Amino acid sequence: MAEEFFQVLAECLEREGRRKGRPGIAPEVLKEFFTDSRPETEELRSQPRRKAAPPSMPPHSLIQASPALETSASSSSSVPISASATGNGGDVALPDSLDMLAETVAQCRRCILAETRQHVVFGEGNPHAGLMFIGEGPGADEDRLGRPFVGRAGQLLDKMIAAMQFTREEVYIANIVKCRPPGNRVPSPDEAACCIGYLKKQIELIRPEAIVLLGATAVTFLLGPVGGITRVRGRWFAYEGIPVMPTFHPAYLLRQESAKREAWIDLQMVMKVFGKTPPSRKRA
Ligand code: URA
Repeated sequence: MAEEFFQVLAECLEREGRRKGRPGIAPEVLKEFFTDSRPETEELRSQPRRKAAPPSMPPHSLIQASPALETSASSSSSVPISASATGNGGDVALPDSLDMLAETVAQCRRCILAETRQHVVFGEGNPHAGLMFIGEGPGADEDRLGRPFVGRAGQLLDKMIAAMQFTREEVYIANIVKCRPPGNRVPSPDEAACCIGYLKKQIELIRPEAIVLLGATAVTFLLGPVGGITRVRGRWFAYEGIPVMPTFHPAYLLRQESAKREAWIDLQMVMKVFGKTPPSRKRA
């Protein structure tokens, strides 16, 4: 992509930021998001990719604007969650504070992932975040440090967040499972079922205005079998009345750089929920 494109994007964001009292985004940040083409790490290469599936709805302000507002007919909570597929994390009462929930999860031994983990990766960010990102599960770096999205995929996620005119500190980042599946395999339905109650409680406590689901696994286990990621990305779904936007996982974007363009379309839809204006591309 031409240098001047990023310059123009940055200028648009700068203008918009000044108008709304927010900082602009450096052209380098935009450029990095669109053009990160460093070779994958061994960890990413070895990460098995499998098909996922899942569902749909958007922010109240976007309901009219979005043709693809989808809600589940199969769930009272508006999301097509199958109890057997996604479970509820054990159906036990969980603490009503994020800190106490984190303490509970730190002790969790509900599934075999507890046997191989180094650290539980609870999630992190602003407990009052308007925007929440949900990934699949910790990788090696996350397991080692006990923090979500700190490896290469995390670096790209940081760029995506910045391109959306948010900071990492403003948003909340969590995963479907809190412990690393060995070899970065996709979590099994049983493992996800053991863990999903924790994520649901996090969502209940944070009550974000919008959720971005990163990749097929997040879509499948939060929303149910709504469809493959390439079919559901860019379409609004709803979880408990919260608008949910599925998009590609950053690890996939590292492997498939051409998909960044579609991911950016999805992220811009989310930006609009927050009144953030995506830069318009100038035509010559
Ligand atoms: N991939 C995920 O899905 N989550 C992480 O925390 C890191 C990589």
